[in-house]
Amino acid sequence: MLVILKRNAEEISLQAAQLVASAVRKNPALALGLATGSTMVSVYKQLVALHQQGSLDFSRVVTFNLDEYLGLPAAHPQSFHHFMHENLFAHVNVNPGNIHIPDGTIGGDYDQYCASYEQAIRQAGGIDLQLLGIGRNGHIGFNEPTSSIGSRTRLKVLSKETLDDNAKSFAPGEESPRCAITMGIGTILEARKVLLLAAGASKSSAVAKSIEGPVASAVSASALQLHPDVTFIIDDAAASQLTQRDYYLRVLEMTALLTPDRLR
Ligand code: GLP
Repeated sequence: MLVILKRNAEEISLQAAQLVASAVRKNPALALGLATGSTMVSVYKQLVALHQQGSLDFSRVVTFNLDEYLGLPAAHPQSFHHFMHENLFAHVNVNPGNIHIPDGTIGGDYDQYCASYEQAIRQAGGIDLQLLGIGRNGHIGFNEPTSSIGSRTRLKVLSKETLDDNAKSFAPGEESPRCAITMGIGTILEARKVLLLAAGASKSSAVAKSIEGPVASAVSASALQLHPDVTFIIDDAAASQLTQRDYYLRVLEMTALLTPDRLR
């Protein structure tokens, strides 16, 4: 596990965008796992800027989003389909046929639909690089506390904490979705490389538990300790409850000297 400490959210997004851009340049047909949430907005802004400068080509990139609210059509302003369109897809040359986002409007056989999402990931050769945010309760995707570490893409009931957080994005009085379709923790752990971004003090407890706590289903992101190639990119506020900060900084210095490609 590599822990990259940055001063603020802007530095996080620059670092993350740089790593994604390098991965796409190395493998133009990269299978890229994407996340939503406010932390991702500036990452996508940086990627769009690189594309517009002519230095980043998405034409062969294949994307898989982590999750979508159940019941929201793609055009709903709070849907993750809409978020991705507004923040990334409308501004880069991704082939629409290469975009995969769980469909929140499927009714009926959820298991079959979720199995087909997993199948699409397999058909693409697996996810090469997965971007993740983290919820205040340690969720990744919508894998709420007590999600099985081996879980696969499925229908998930949202926790009270997540419902409270999500309610802020919906119009006053509008009911926010109670469930979502999300990749499972097992699905995420199969990505070849994982980048988790966290900014702000509200994430500091979840970040500390994920990096330094025991692996436990009570904190979904702690399962990333089992992954062979995970990088956490976190700002000062989100890092404030980590006890090994000096060590992470020394590792960063040595990484810059010995294996600088891991940072760019
Ligand atoms: C939602 C998404 C998560 C994301 C989280 C963090 O819950 N399902 O994948 O990590 O938001 O969002 P933010 O970056 O806005 O804090």
